[in-house]
Amino acid sequence: MSDTYTTVEGAAVGVLMGSASDWSTMQKCSETLDQLGITHECNVISAHRNPHRVARYCETAEARGLRTIICAAGGAAHLAGVVAALTPLPVLACPMKAWSLEGLDSLLSMAQMPKGVPVATFAIGSAGAINAAIFAAQMLALSDTTVRDTLHAFREEQSSAVQELPRG
Ligand code: RP5
Repeated sequence: MSDTYTTVEGAAVGVLMGSASDWSTMQKCSETLDQLGITHECNVISAHRNPHRVARYCETAEARGLRTIICAAGGAAHLAGVVAALTPLPVLACPMKAWSLEGLDSLLSMAQMPKGVPVATFAIGSAGAINAAIFAAQMLALSDTTVRDTLHAFREEQSSAVQELPRG
């Protein structure tokens, strides 16, 4: 059905991507959210192929309990900007490496939002997808002590995983 999307009861984060071809990267975002215990929902909704579905998703997002929406897109990556225009929720943008320019086109499309409708833009590719998930968790942690504790443990584990150079 062209005007439907998947919702998850209790989801705090919505992950949108412009194409199923973005999933290999955005799966890492979803896995990181799982690792941090964040209930979320993932949908492929294209700003230019499914504009009405984008609008419907955004119109109900806040009322359904979402706290932020992570948007991934490539090329002339307008999904995050369109979503930000349609919801008061904070929008986190993940530039995808699409078919050209190594993702620089996506990065600039997202980062260069005109004043008044911001999107917070992350690094191109997997690093940005993972960091958007961590950043979403950091926002939720401001009012959720369980998420705060999980994030604290995540950071501790990350720090202790740093290896020294072999000596001698
Ligand atoms: C964007 O165009 C998508 O977000 C994807 O990154 C890129 C290519 O999409 P497909 O042609 O693979 O569907 O809309």
